[in-house]
Amino acid sequence: MRLAVVLLMLPMLVSAHYYQYERRSWNKDDDDPQLVWKYGYEIEIHEVQTEDGYLLDLYRIPGRRASSGQPALRPYRNAPIFLMHSLLSSCADWVLMGPGRALAYLLADAGYDVWMGNARGTRYSRKHTHLDPDRTNEFWNFTWHEIGLYDVPAMIDHVLAVSDQPRLHYAGFSQGTMVLFVLLSERPEYNAKLIDMQAISPSVYMYRLEGRIVRTFVRLADPLVAALDAAGRHEILPNTRFIGPLVKIVCPDANVTVCRELLYDVAGRNPPQVDDKMLRIFLGHFPAGASLRQLHHFSQIIRTTRFAKYSPLQATWNAHPASPAPLYNLTRATIPVVVYYGLNDHVVNFRDALQLADEVPNLAAVHQIADRLFTHSDFILAKNSARLMNALLLQELDQYDGTSNATH
Ligand SMILES: *[C@@H]1O[C@H](CO)[C@@H](O)[C@H](O)[C@H]1NC(C)=O
Ligand SMILES: *[C@@H]1O[C@H](CO)[C@@H](O)[C@H](O)[C@H]1NC(C)=O
Ligand SMILES: *[C@@H]1O[C@H](CO)[C@@H](O)[C@H](O)[C@H]1NC(C)=O
Repeated sequence: MRLAVVLLMLPMLVSAHYYQYERRSWNKDDDDPQLVWKYGYEIEIHEVQTEDGYLLDLYRIPGRRASSGQPALRPYRNAPIFLMHSLLSSCADWVLMGPGRALAYLLADAGYDVWMGNARGTRYSRKHTHLDPDRTNEFWNFTWHEIGLYDVPAMIDHVLAVSDQPRLHYAGFSQGTMVLFVLLSERPEYNAKLIDMQAISPSVYMYRLEGRIVRTFVRLADPLVAALDAAGRHEILPNTRFIGPLVKIVCPDANVTVCRELLYDVAGRNPPQVDDKMLRIFLGHFPAGASLRQLHHFSQIIRTTRFAKYSPLQATWNAHPASPAPLYNLTRATIPVVVYYGLNDHVVNFRDALQLADEVPNLAAVHQIADRLFTHSDFILAKNSARLMNALLLQELDQYDGTSNATH
């Protein structure tokens, strides 16, 4: 496993100056918008600017295309729903499994106006009004704190403005949930813009995580971050011409054994639910990039067991910092929260999910996914996740039907 850790970390170090960022092109077969369109759904890309100048691609599936032969389901039966992805991923989380299975399509089929965010620094949101991601470190000076504080509210406001609705449903996966808790802790007025939060494997507490690779990273985080920082490497695992071929070498299409083993260690082991074809599609979209600080911040909340703000490197370098970083205030998240967790989730251990469920003031429901081997990646990749996870979420949303119109 040590070898695997080295293999994983090597590209972060060596790719420092040796790649050109892949130009965006929507014509390739494997690009999300193209996929969504091909499957007979409409797709819109909205560029949203944050207060601090980041430019984010927000994807919308307004429904099926008339030419698909399926009814278009308009006007919308329900309030819009905003979906936020996990660490190192992108809006691909919500469409990978395809129509009839992936959450974004199921929601569109059920009459929702579906919006999918992309956090700053990911392949679709690697843009800024004046900071160049390839030339300035300043572009990468953020953690998931800024994603919660600036990206999520900018995208929520855009969805509400375009759809002319007062409130929306929010569903997040992993990091996609923690960023909303950051927002509600720091800007609690955003509770009024939300109907509910569907928290899928919420990564607020993660300190009981079981993956050996991730545990090793957390243990080595400070020296590793210092080394990368000194090397001027502030972008981590971007979706580039360099990482793509590397993934192809480690996990050639014909044999994804190594990637499957890595996945088992990081996310949890549930072999019957892994579909090699799906895994290959997933690897075409993952990793989608993040900042060094973002990973460092994760390592801090894991090591300290506290859901707290970022401590700069100089502070953590010292084993006993003068004062611990301030905690986020979970009691300010007053909207109804529904928590989903897997018993075999290596990233968000079920006890961590239950600890969060205990601490949110307005817990609406907690769901343990019925498959006892259900892992972290199973939420977006497992053969049985449409049946065990997505169907449950649709049922939960049904309970809030009409509540958005009541306040209109
Ligand atoms: C990074 O951002 C923090 C505040 O978020 C600021 O204090 C710091 O000076 C910034 N560092 C750089 C190198 O821009
Ligand atoms: C796939 O790769 C693994 C590890 O490299 C090897 O042990 C296994 O035999 C390979 N399987 C096939 C079908 O080639
Ligand atoms: C958390 O927020 C609540 C509600 O705004 C406030 O009453 C409480 O004092 C805060 N707790 C901390 C530790 O700041």
